[in-house]
Amino acid sequence: MWPTVEERRVESRPQAGQVGGGPRRGPEAGRAAAPAVAVGERSSPCDLGQSSAVQLPSSRSEVARGSMERWRDRLALVTGASGGIGAAVARALVQQGVKVVGCARTVGNIEELAAECKSAGYPGTLIPYRCDLSNEEDILSMFSAIRSQHSGVDICINNAGLARPDTLLSGSTSGWKDMFNVRAADLEWGAGRTVGSPELVNVLALSICTREAYQSMKERNVDDGHIININSMSGHRVVPQSVAHFYSATKYAVTALTEGLRQELREAQTHIRATCISPGLVETQFAFKLHDKDPEKAAATYEHIKCLKPEDVAQAVIYVLSTPPHVQIGDIQMRPTEQMT
Ligand SMILES: NC(=O)c1ccc[n+]([C@@H]2O[C@H](COP(=O)([O-])OP(=O)(O)OC[C@H]3O[C@@H](n4cnc5c(N)ncnc54)[C@H](OP(=O)(O)O)[C@@H]3O)[C@@H](O)[C@H]2O)c1
Repeated sequence: MWPTVEERRVESRPQAGQVGGGPRRGPEAGRAAAPAVAVGERSSPCDLGQSSAVQLPSSRSEVARGSMERWRDRLALVTGASGGIGAAVARALVQQGVKVVGCARTVGNIEELAAECKSAGYPGTLIPYRCDLSNEEDILSMFSAIRSQHSGVDICINNAGLARPDTLLSGSTSGWKDMFNVRAADLEWGAGRTVGSPELVNVLALSICTREAYQSMKERNVDDGHIININSMSGHRVVPQSVAHFYSATKYAVTALTEGLRQELREAQTHIRATCISPGLVETQFAFKLHDKDPEKAAATYEHIKCLKPEDVAQAVIYVLSTPPHVQIGDIQMRPTEQMT
């Protein structure tokens, strides 16, 4: 269905549990100069409208620049930063001066991206972290490393996700059950490590990261954090493609989880915001992992229309973060112009 040019596989695999160094910084730290890259140059998905009561900045780039300023030097966790949308989001945030912990299993890719960002002179930093999100212990260790080596998480981008070609009529029950259960921390896990289970990552890892990110914000009295879930158009309609049905169910869950989160954050009387971004077809490695036994079919996925690029989704992330604190974007649905479904 859906991968990228910037996918590079490299061999090096640093130790799990290592998060790069750097001073502890609270939410109030670092309010410096404007970031080098303006994100509002292209048309924004919103209509700013007119209001005589509100003093509007003179240009859209000014809106973006001004409001990303409060995120400078604060910490964003981006899951699935080793390629595709996650890598593009991590890069865009580093361009805006954000300190990003990027996690995935293929940590070598994130190290390469971190080196690229550094040599480009971007004002933020990218800190690679190896984490298998299908293992709760890995996730909890990551949050604990972030807590001890940095202050905590201010922005959580739940991006990691995948689809497997299991249809509703022939998928195995045990496989589905397994997919919905996070392996207990004390269980032996090895054989299934590289396979991954879509629902585990798409739903439960997202929920665990959300809970831990919220707790991190709460313990530091961070009232303006942001949790962004990378959802999908498959979280809003069911396409007549059998391999997409179970995946679609996980993304419908993301739609419900994002709105449920928004309501709980309201009940908790915080100003932490919850958003999901729902792209249609984006050219990444996604389809190559879905159709891992049929690379031609995977490649064909991206050939029939001009797809979204990971950077388009990254720009949507920057947009939602850029909105003023009293504005909460619930969902951005974005398709390639040429996509029908
Ligand atoms: N591409 C599309 O057309 C499209 C459309 C709508 C929504 N989306 C959503 O966008 C998100 C990103 O997808 P993408 O298109 O960028 O796909 P991608 O290129 O395949 O990237 C997926 C990312 O998820 C990570 N990941 C998967 N399983 C993981 C695990 N167990 N532990 C840690 N990280 C894991 C991968 O890292 P490692 O393999 O290195 O661990 C990789 O960084 C997903 O949630 C997907 O559902 C994609």
